[in-house]
Amino acid sequence: MDLFRTKSIETLRSMAEVSGMKKSLGATDLVLLGIGCVIGTGIFVLTGVAAAKYAGPAVMLSFVLSGLACTFAALAYAEFASIVPSAGSAYTYTYASLGEFVAFIVGWNLILEYTVTSSAVAAGWSGYVVGLLKAGGIDLPTAYTLVPADGGIINIPAILIVMFLSFLLVRGTKESVTLNKVLVIIKLAAVFIFLFLAGPKVNPMNWEPFMPFGFAGVAGGAAIVFFAYIGFDAVATSAEECRNPGRDLPIGIVGSLLICTILYVAVSAVLTGVVPYAQLNNPEPVAYALRYIGYNIGSALVGVGAICGITTVLLVLLYGQARVFFAMSRDGMVPASVCKIHPVYKTPYMVTIVGAILVAAIAGFAPIGLIAEMANIGTLSAFLIASVGVLVLRYTKPDIPRTFRCPALIVVAPLAVLSCGFLMYNLPLDTWIRFVVWCLVGFAVYFGYSYKNSTLNKDEAAHAED
Ligand code: ALA
Repeated sequence: MDLFRTKSIETLRSMAEVSGMKKSLGATDLVLLGIGCVIGTGIFVLTGVAAAKYAGPAVMLSFVLSGLACTFAALAYAEFASIVPSAGSAYTYTYASLGEFVAFIVGWNLILEYTVTSSAVAAGWSGYVVGLLKAGGIDLPTAYTLVPADGGIINIPAILIVMFLSFLLVRGTKESVTLNKVLVIIKLAAVFIFLFLAGPKVNPMNWEPFMPFGFAGVAGGAAIVFFAYIGFDAVATSAEECRNPGRDLPIGIVGSLLICTILYVAVSAVLTGVVPYAQLNNPEPVAYALRYIGYNIGSALVGVGAICGITTVLLVLLYGQARVFFAMSRDGMVPASVCKIHPVYKTPYMVTIVGAILVAAIAGFAPIGLIAEMANIGTLSAFLIASVGVLVLRYTKPDIPRTFRCPALIVVAPLAVLSCGFLMYNLPLDTWIRFVVWCLVGFAVYFGYSYKNSTLNKDEAAHAED
């Protein structure tokens, strides 16, 4: 058995449609792209959960810790992305560096990432829609808007938004750059309205005690709020579309992460400054805080902004989920029938529908905190492995062209591994158990199906016969 057979970079390059890409993105576009994919449920919902349950007001520090880990991982990842441009995702990169088995596990965990992240984002969307309707006098029954763990039966709004966006994806809707820019502006406006209205009402007494759960709480909080940064890899995968990747990619990555970190720290400081942290574990803490201090219209405005922002993140994630599945099926790792292309719309409709059902089922019944933790462990593991892979490739394939070379990779890659590992370590035991079970199922799929059916295996077998 050869678990470490690798795909050649040349094959990957020829598979990636490198030639057709327009090199039009500059540093500002990349920063906006990053913000567009990143700001969503994390800041609008999980800040409250993390403050109430883990870090208290020190959730601000949690955001700084998590942002640092993302910066290291994103820089290393960007070099990977620049070697094999558009084929995308840590799965493909790992196939070329650490071999098939590890690549399968990374892909398997990326599926976990996209599926559960989408579910958590849909749950966050639901929280804001329900809150907004309630503020407008329409009180939906909690039985149908909350999951069982929160006292309801099923979260129907979360299911509906997933179904609706998946329908758009099957029809071939892609987010346009212009729409993304408009939504980024709306999203940022929501954040700034909140800071502007609630900032002056901060009562520093609410920041006491600052670290009610000690440093362990801050670290646990960092592991949760990592969710708010998921999506940053979108910037890293755009190397081929950059005018000047060597200069613009690091600016795009570090710039968007820096802006997000500053906004996240500011929002969490104000949030915990106006509402005692223990009250923040609710489905729409940012809007709740504004109502708490009497700004009903401001709260509604922020609610609308949050809903717009969260919708775009969800669309990108659902799209990404289908893409990872698709890449894996092209390599024979999952059955090709899963990725059938629609005869009219030319989209991978089967996988989009199957994925949507999974996402909707999770969002309909599981609590958001638990889902976010699963999303984080899947993403962190994929980035940890990808960071090792990029370093390995520097030594095993020093001469392949790299549009972007990570500065001081020898320091950055180990820092990425350590910081992602640290965040993983700080996730709760239950999350680890679920993660191990997920990986074991993955092993079973790999050894039961993928090893035999991978295109690489078939190619090798064909060569052997010759
Ligand atoms: N970072 C994305 C969000 O917070 C997933 O919604």
